[in-house]
Amino acid sequence: MTVRRVLRMGDPRLLQIAQPVKEFGSKELKSLIEDMFDTMEDYDGAGLAAPQIGVPKRVVIFGVDNNPRYPEADQVPTTVLINPEITVSSLKKESGWEGCLSVPGMRGRVDRYAQIRYRGYDLQGNEIEREANGFHARVVQHECDHLDGILYPARISDMRYFGFEEVLFPEFGENEQTKAAPLE
Ligand code: NI
Repeated sequence: MTVRRVLRMGDPRLLQIAQPVKEFGSKELKSLIEDMFDTMEDYDGAGLAAPQIGVPKRVVIFGVDNNPRYPEADQVPTTVLINPEITVSSLKKESGWEGCLSVPGMRGRVDRYAQIRYRGYDLQGNEIEREANGFHARVVQHECDHLDGILYPARISDMRYFGFEEVLFPEFGENEQTKAAPLE
């Protein structure tokens, strides 16, 4: 079990364009993905992208399965998604609170496409293709942005809705707070 340190905003490695994975099923890829899951679980995240631990590869993981931090979040299947591509199913967008392990303590409201289709590959190179909406679609868009060097604050259209979690949601306890602002 190896929990890696998550890079924080300001680190230039978070701004790089990550490179596609060319070889599937390798020992290196397997160990990268194991470290990513160990790290995501240790930080109680809903998702993680390889660049967040300093690896410039197009690999993301995500999943929410009865995570106490996200009691209200729709279930998101635990997924390894490599070389992902997103297509938008409808131009409708939804606004929702996001956070990021690379931007600790902060939350911001971000508009994301409400309905997407995504495809990519698992560790062994098997194709994955799914439709997603709501929170599932939001997590996938957030994680895939990391592969293009985009952190969610760059997506906030109204900066009045960006701030410290404990200041934005002072009336809530720990659970209520993350209910209001589920992500990573
Ligand atoms: Ni993030």
